[in-house]
Amino acid sequence: MDYKQLIAERLADQTNTNAQALYGLIEIPPRPEMGDYAFPCFALAKNLRKAPPLIAQSLAASMDAQGFEKVEALGPYLNFFLNKSEYSAAVISQVLSQGPDYGNEDSGHGKKILVEYSSPNIAKPFNVALMYTTSLGNALYRMYRSEGYDTVGINHLGDYGTQFGKLICAYRLWGDEEALQADPIKELLRIYVKFHEEAEKDPSLDEAGRTAFRNLESGAPYEMGLWNRFKELSLEDFQKVYDLLDIRFDSLKGEASYSESLPEVIEEIRAKGLLSESQGAQVVLLDEYNMPPAIILKSDGSSIYCTRDITAAIYRKKTYDFDKCLYVVGSPQALHFRQVFKVLELMGFEWAKDLIHVGFGLVKFQGMKFSTRQGNVFYLTDLLDQAIARAREIIEEKNPELPNKDEVARKIGIGGVKFIYLKNSREKEILFDLNEVLSFDGETAPYIQYTYARARSVLRRFPLAHPEEMNGLQEKEEFELTKELDRFNEAKQEALARYEPSVFTRYILDVAKAFNKFYNNINIGNTEEPLRSARLNLLLATCQVLANGLNLLGIDVVEQM
Ligand code: ARG
Repeated sequence: MDYKQLIAERLADQTNTNAQALYGLIEIPPRPEMGDYAFPCFALAKNLRKAPPLIAQSLAASMDAQGFEKVEALGPYLNFFLNKSEYSAAVISQVLSQGPDYGNEDSGHGKKILVEYSSPNIAKPFNVALMYTTSLGNALYRMYRSEGYDTVGINHLGDYGTQFGKLICAYRLWGDEEALQADPIKELLRIYVKFHEEAEKDPSLDEAGRTAFRNLESGAPYEMGLWNRFKELSLEDFQKVYDLLDIRFDSLKGEASYSESLPEVIEEIRAKGLLSESQGAQVVLLDEYNMPPAIILKSDGSSIYCTRDITAAIYRKKTYDFDKCLYVVGSPQALHFRQVFKVLELMGFEWAKDLIHVGFGLVKFQGMKFSTRQGNVFYLTDLLDQAIARAREIIEEKNPELPNKDEVARKIGIGGVKFIYLKNSREKEILFDLNEVLSFDGETAPYIQYTYARARSVLRRFPLAHPEEMNGLQEKEEFELTKELDRFNEAKQEALARYEPSVFTRYILDVAKAFNKFYNNINIGNTEEPLRSARLNLLLATCQVLANGLNLLGIDVVEQM
């Protein structure tokens, strides 16, 4: 419900000004006794040639107060008090009539946004560290889509690097075909670790690894064949994780696929006079911008990470003609992206300004047991399995009669883990503690899921006698809850403006908190009809908002838990 718009239009009528200009001036007062909206009259003083307090007074007297309980002057301010019952009815009816679409907007219509996230390295385990980019990126993807953007989710697979030469070499020496079939990542990790151990003793292995890598780069069939195989097997393994997380990408493209266009891009950088030589390497000097040089071509002629990212960005612009391209990658790579973006800018691509690095901080795990199978990695699937098992225990304890316990445990376990990466501002360090993650009364996904299930159980207990009834909600708790329901889009847009899903996550927590206040203070069972029906409709609307909100975070609700 856009009351600001309504107020702006009425003020514009009264004062012969432009509603658009007034809109931005409307404030939310700091205290409830000052109303729900306030308009500071200073801006009108010049035009109306009157002192602001006088303007406030005369407007209070002449304003059309329809939809408001009252409109009052307080000093230079004009304060608007919503008609609680009317307002609540309008919000509830909007939520219920739009249903799963409530909160979807059109602000991104005709615009395309690329969200690059997850981007694991092949032949390596999908470790817990990847959960940050995966949760955060998927939430941003969903939120942009809900704003009407044409949204492209990109998984930029790490399938390039000298380590693949080593891996190929190791496989030739010690690879076990059967083990590779049975658990590919485990086998690849085993031989990779072995390679490093053996290379300590026998340095000639490193040379063999480099040779294999050169062969791979020049497309030799044996090396290419193995590399493709490792890639396929890794992807199958990653797919299991993505299925469990319910995440799909629109594009899965390996870093190595940009190799082909590298020479062209390097030539372009050279032609634009940007390339200098430094200790045998070809670099773009960035001293002027307080950055170390961006290395484009190493002294041995091999390309590097930076150049492939430059090439990938040019490819993406050509392929998608995006309005914005986000890189959801940990903050330790911040300098890398600043260099990449700067080189693109210096190359004359004005769209370099539309490339955005969405960084995030570190995660520390506390008191967790991981089966460190090999090579000291924390597998994400181990973490998720533990979370699901723990959720299952909690359910067994709290609600042993619950049907479909496994499914509920899965939704709570996974939801709980995803949520942790979304609730704090992304640059902050996270301390991951499984007990806290799954707590039903902290700032957690299970708390919100539990709130939802609680509301559903009330709705099962008391059938809705008058589905059309939405009037008469006057209590403070009802009003506060309705205001939260109404704030969905504002919260989402604020979150997107800062690429900060936590703003929206906090909002969903606020909805759940406002609902629990309402639930604890208002007894629906004792309420007479038709007010009871209005309250039940408020419950229904709350459930819809919680479900829609969690959905944008990639988290499911459960009917019972
Ligand atoms: N695979 C890379 C890594 O593990 C992350 C890729 C980030 N994206 C990019 N366009 N450079 O570090």
